[in-house]
Amino acid sequence: MQDIVKTFPGVRANDHVTFEVRAGEVHALLGENGAGKTTLMNTLYGLYQPDSGAIYLGGKRVRIRSPRDAIAHGIGMVHQHFKLVYPHTVAENVALGLSGAPFIGPARVVERRLRELAARYNLPVDPKAKVWQLSAGEQQRVEILKALYRGADILILDEPTSVLTPQETQELFKVLERMKEEGHAVIFISHKLDEVMEVADRVTVMRRGKVVGTKAISEVDKPTLARMMVGREVVFRLSKGVCQPGEEALIVEDLHASSDRGLPALRGVSFHVCRGEILGIAGVAGNGQRELVEVLTGLRRPRRGRVVILGRELTGQSPRKIADCGVAHIPEERIRMGIVAGMSVEDNLILKKHHRQPFSRGPLLNLREIRRFAKQSIEEYEIMTPSPKTPAKLLSGGNIQKLILARELSGQPGLVIAAHPTYGLDVGATELIRKLLLRQREAGVGVLLVSEDLEEIMALSDRIAVMFRGEIMGIVPAAEASLEELGLMMAGERRAKEAA
Ligand SMILES: Nc1ncnc2c1ncn2[C@@H]1O[C@H](COP(=O)(O)OP(=O)(O)O)[C@@H](O)[C@H]1O
Ligand SMILES: [Mg+2]
Repeated sequence: MQDIVKTFPGVRANDHVTFEVRAGEVHALLGENGAGKTTLMNTLYGLYQPDSGAIYLGGKRVRIRSPRDAIAHGIGMVHQHFKLVYPHTVAENVALGLSGAPFIGPARVVERRLRELAARYNLPVDPKAKVWQLSAGEQQRVEILKALYRGADILILDEPTSVLTPQETQELFKVLERMKEEGHAVIFISHKLDEVMEVADRVTVMRRGKVVGTKAISEVDKPTLARMMVGREVVFRLSKGVCQPGEEALIVEDLHASSDRGLPALRGVSFHVCRGEILGIAGVAGNGQRELVEVLTGLRRPRRGRVVILGRELTGQSPRKIADCGVAHIPEERIRMGIVAGMSVEDNLILKKHHRQPFSRGPLLNLREIRRFAKQSIEEYEIMTPSPKTPAKLLSGGNIQKLILARELSGQPGLVIAAHPTYGLDVGATELIRKLLLRQREAGVGVLLVSEDLEEIMALSDRIAVMFRGEIMGIVPAAEASLEELGLMMAGERRAKEAA
């Protein structure tokens, strides 16, 4: 790909990007969320037309007008969100959309070739299984098989490990090795440094729509890559004092709740979080974590069970009531739920608090106090904003998150509920936010940390609970937790001995 430019209204997602991948290599495309990785690969796959630039395959210039063109050129893509048809079988999904009739040849031919491919690449799936019956990891295998079936020489995988347990990730990496041996070119999109170091031969780092550089893995290390990703020095180690648990900040008993689709999302969840302790909730997304946080913060009504926060029974209370009782909420969808996008940074900082001292005096707002508080928060939380009056929506993701923390933590909460607090943030903002959470713990606040990032969970938590299909598979003291054990629980295995 040579000098590719792709602009969306207001953003240049790819800014003169040149990217080259060879047969027989795993080439990682690394960058923070929003760096432009998916856009570049959607262009290669024919989903977008570049504003300018050219694509060459085997030295020859090609025009890729659609995914159909891409497939014809031997390019396959496994998207971040799978595009399978649920009621159909694996074999039907693989055959679907192939040129000609909806199903080429008799099902048995498709099945036979599928079995061959599955064996050759070590991608076990049952061709006759219905897709809805499969786990996320198995669905991903189907997507890979589908691409191989169509003759992909170049395979693009967009953040493939985000839906996998650690064990499934290891299996995927073996498959990638195998594809490499067979002479395929594999493009592995990721924002995770460890995975890139483990699986890639070469890496191209993108930042803000531009390529920062392409390197052989042998000539880089994690800190170098992190620096390339964010453009500054970063520290990986967090210092953490001994946990001194106080009384219970949160008690959850036998909680049941339904998902938006009316299906059971929480099925008898029980745990507690002490003051001065961080309890991490690990698990592959979609196993009830979202519903749990919603119930605890008053956004969803439980069907059964009890929630006691800071000594008060608050089951089924409103978000405002819960917040007023000393609960800080760092929401998963920070732009939709965490801020009022059109309001200024200053107004967002006092949101939910404007009715309280010292910001109001009777019916009037105390503007001087508000301004002082905003200025202090902006400094203390390193919020990069042109001015306190700037609309919050103009800030970067990391700065929006810092704003939310500044507001939520300034109320001196007794319990912090943080959902994916560093998801998609650059390394600098991630580091600051983790430090802030640890500081809360040190100050005797109870912290419930929900995250998909196991590294984060292990670095911050004192105890780790793993959720699977709406249940807690086990709770482990972080000091004893191994990646392997957590991975097994993430895949639905219950912990043998239940820790306190
Ligand atoms: N279809 C689209 N319309 C408008 N903006 C988009 C679209 N797709 C991506 N963007 C923007 O382009 C930038 C790069 O996004 P993306 O390629 O998805 O990054 P990455 O995959 O590295 O996280 C982001 O600022 C994103 O908001
Ligand atoms: Mg992406």
